[in-house]
Amino acid sequence: MSKYFLTTAIDYANGDPHIGHAYEKIGADAIARYRRQRGDDVHFLIGMDEHGQKVEQTAAQQGVTPQVLVDALAARFSAMWQRLGISNDQFIRTTDAMHRAGVRALIERIFERNPDDFYERAYEGWYCVGCEAFKTDAEILDGKCVLHPTRTLEWVEERNWFFRLSKYGDFLRALLLDERGFLQPESRRNEMLALIDRGLDDVSASRSRLTWGIPFPKPLSSGERQTTYVWFDALPNYLTATGFPGDRGRATWPAQLHIVGKDITRFHTIIWPAMLRAAELPLPDRVWGHGFVLLGGERFSKSAGVRLDVDEAVARHGADAFRYFLLREVPFDGDGSFSFERFDERYNADLANSWGNLASRVIAMIEKYRGGVVPHGAPDDQDTADARHIAAYHSAMDGSRGFLLHEALQHAMALVTRGNEFVQTTQPWQLAKQMDEESRRALDSVLSSLVRQLARQTVLLAPFMPSKAQEVWEQIGGPGLVTAQRNDRLDDLDATGWTVTKGAPLFPKEARSTG
Ligand code: MSP
Repeated sequence: MSKYFLTTAIDYANGDPHIGHAYEKIGADAIARYRRQRGDDVHFLIGMDEHGQKVEQTAAQQGVTPQVLVDALAARFSAMWQRLGISNDQFIRTTDAMHRAGVRALIERIFERNPDDFYERAYEGWYCVGCEAFKTDAEILDGKCVLHPTRTLEWVEERNWFFRLSKYGDFLRALLLDERGFLQPESRRNEMLALIDRGLDDVSASRSRLTWGIPFPKPLSSGERQTTYVWFDALPNYLTATGFPGDRGRATWPAQLHIVGKDITRFHTIIWPAMLRAAELPLPDRVWGHGFVLLGGERFSKSAGVRLDVDEAVARHGADAFRYFLLREVPFDGDGSFSFERFDERYNADLANSWGNLASRVIAMIEKYRGGVVPHGAPDDQDTADARHIAAYHSAMDGSRGFLLHEALQHAMALVTRGNEFVQTTQPWQLAKQMDEESRRALDSVLSSLVRQLARQTVLLAPFMPSKAQEVWEQIGGPGLVTAQRNDRLDDLDATGWTVTKGAPLFPKEARSTG
C-alpha cells in the first residue's frame, strides 16, 4: 500500500468560508477519495492559519480577543467541511501547542544546520496585510497591492531576522526544472521560473510589532524578542502535523501533494522548499497550483466584498450537486465562474436528466422484467467502450498529467451519456414484449450490461459525489460501501444476482435543501 499524504492550504481565520475555500477543499477531497479507492494509505490534512496581523486586526475590529475569533471561525470552517463531505483525516490549527513547538524546532534546526541562513537586517518597505507580505514596486499599482486593491498598504521600518532566500535560486530552478514535475500545472511552473530568473530577495522571518503569533526562538542582538513572520509559521503546518520534531505516527513527512491556489504558489514552491532545504529535511513530492473561482469576473475575497453565501449555494441542490458543479465547471488547472444559472443548468442536464434518469430507468426495468434481480449477461461492446473512457479518467486523476478533475468528470459523464444512448438503441421494453428465447436472452444481456455500466459510473463518480454514489450503489444492490470498490479493478465487475431497490429520486427537479 503506498502512502499518500496530501494537504490543502490552511485558511486564514479572518472571515467565514467562501466558495474559493470550498473549491480547493472539494478538489483535494476528490483526489483523496480517488487515492483511497486505488488502495493507497491516504492521510488528508486541512486546517486553519490563525496567527498574523490580519487575524489580529479583524479581532480588534470585532472587539474580541484573537483567540475568541479563531476558535469561533475554526468551528464554522469545520462545520462547513462536514456539510460538504470533506473526508480530511486531520484538521490542524496553527494555535495548537504542537504546531507552535514544531515551528520553533524547525527554525532552531535551520540555525543549527545552516547558521548563515538567518541574519539581522534593518528593512523598510510596503507591507500588504491582505497578503501578509512585503510588496515590490512591480506588485503595486496606484499605491495599492494588485491582489488587494481595497486595502491600504503599510509603510514598515523594522529590524528583523531575515532568511537568506537569495542563496537558493539555483537549487529552486533545478527543482522546478526536474522532470518529475515538482510544480504543476506547467503555466504556474513558468511563472515561478520567471520569478527566480528576476532574482530572489531575502525574506523577513520575524516581525517586531506583531504580537499574535509564535515567539521567534532567537532574540535580536539588541535583546529584542520578535514574533515569527506568519508565513514562516503557516508553511510548516504540513510538517508539524506529522508530529515534527517527533513522530506521532499519523502522517509521515514528506507530503506527496500540496494543493494550493495560484496566489500562494510562490510561497509553496520558493520559500517552503528553501526552508526545508535549509533545515536539511526532505521536500514534498509535488505542489499543484489551482486557479480561481470567480463571481462576475471577480475573485471571492473578504476585503473586496465579492461574496456569495456558501450555505445558500449548497442548499440549492444539495452538497453533492454543489461539489459536482464546481469541479465540472471550473477547470482545476485554470479559472472559471460560478453562477446560479449554470448551476441549475448542469444540475438538470447532467444530474437529474442524465445520471439520475439512467439509474431510475434501469432499476425500474430490472424490477419490472426480472423481479428485481440482475440477470447474467456476457461482456459486450459497452464494456469495451467504457474501458477507453475509464483509462482516460485515470490519466486525468492519477497525477501523471496533473490533476485535471474537470476532464475526469467529463470522461465519467461520457459513460452516463453512452448508457442513456444504449437504452434508446436497445429498447428493452420492445424486447420484453417478445416471448421467444432469443429475445429473453437479449434482454438479460442488455439489463446486465446496464447495471455493470451504472456500477462503474458510480465508482468513478464516488470521489466527486460520495453520498449520491452510495445511494445509487445501494439501489443497484452493490455490496458494502461504494468507496470500498477499487477503481482500478473495474474490468471484472460483474453484477449478476444483485438485487435492485427503487429509492427516492436521486436528483429531484424541485430545488430542495439536502445539504
Ligand atoms: N493562510 C494562507 C495559506 C497558508 S498555507 C500554508 C491563505 N489563506 S486564504 O484563506 O487566503 O486562502 C486559502 C486558500 O483558498 C488558498 O489556497 C487560496 O488560493 C484559496 N482561494 C482563495 N480564494 C479563492 C478563489 N476565489 N478560488 C479558488 N481558490 C481560492 O492564503
